[in-house]
Amino acid sequence: MLRGTTLSFIGSGTMAEAMIRGILHEKLISPDAITASGPRPERGQELRGQYGIRAVTDNCEAARVGKIIVLSVKPQTVRKVLPEIREAIAPDDLIISIVAGTPIRVIKKGLGVAKVVRAMPNTPGQVGRGMTVWTATPQVDELGQRQAQAVLSALGKELYVGDEGDLDRATALSGTGPAYVFLFMEALVDAGVHLGFSRRVAQELVYQTMEGAVAIARETGAHPVELRNSVTSPGGTTAEALYQFEKGGLRTVVSKAVWAAYQRSVALGELADE
Ligand SMILES: NC(=O)c1ccc[n+]([C@@H]2O[C@H](COP(=O)([O-])OP(=O)(O)OC[C@H]3O[C@@H](n4cnc5c(N)ncnc54)[C@H](OP(=O)(O)O)[C@@H]3O)[C@@H](O)[C@H]2O)c1
Repeated sequence: MLRGTTLSFIGSGTMAEAMIRGILHEKLISPDAITASGPRPERGQELRGQYGIRAVTDNCEAARVGKIIVLSVKPQTVRKVLPEIREAIAPDDLIISIVAGTPIRVIKKGLGVAKVVRAMPNTPGQVGRGMTVWTATPQVDELGQRQAQAVLSALGKELYVGDEGDLDRATALSGTGPAYVFLFMEALVDAGVHLGFSRRVAQELVYQTMEGAVAIARETGAHPVELRNSVTSPGGTTAEALYQFEKGGLRTVVSKAVWAAYQRSVALGELADE
């Protein structure tokens, strides 16, 4: 899918490296067709040594050689980078932005291009188990869409949506989601330690329980309520614990938290115009 093209990353941090690793692992493109740029020469050396790609400190050089350009800098850096690379971008280049909270209109205006893909990955993408939601401008043709899909699938699963507004919704659910899960994990491990388990044992019990719960939900396709009911015996331990979760308003808190994250994502997107 990516053979015969060139791929450049502007910003060569954690997410860029995860994509490079996944793309090369799948042999989607040869290393010499990948260029990554970033301010630190030692980081470039590291990437060159590990993956055999080209690494440079000049963003314009990377932008010039890439036909597909991934914007993988931090949101606060992207404003500086867009005017810097504008002249190095060809009108037909495909831009894939994974920069959180930066709307397509800002990238189109900043680079003077029409073919833009905007994606919202999440942290597990760093280990190839991510969930990335993405959309594209109408000018991105079928080949461009398939190329974007190939690049993004290096982070794990990807899902195309037709409406950019879905990216704010996805930010609140899958983008921010790992933090919700980490918080719940932490609370469970602490509860296990409170019960008297060592932290190591509590962690193992919690991690495996979480992975197992997701696996059974996926494999059976059963609704979570069904799965929950099947382990809730009358007057039993699960019923007692679930009663306390409901009494504490867990469901309402979760709903309010996700809604607040969504509103924050929309507000940050509006600020990006300023
Ligand atoms: N990490 C995630 O799980 C995640 C999830 C969703 C979305 N994202 C989005 O993905 C993007 C990248 O995130 P990340 O976690 O990979 O961040 P990161 O590791 O900090 O990577 C950003 C890279 O940009 C480099 N950089 C700084 N200034 C630059 C400049 N002027 N020109 C070119 N490169 C420059 C940094 O170099 P130095 O280190 O030398 O400063 C760093 O290597 C962000 O916009 C973030 O919102 C990340």
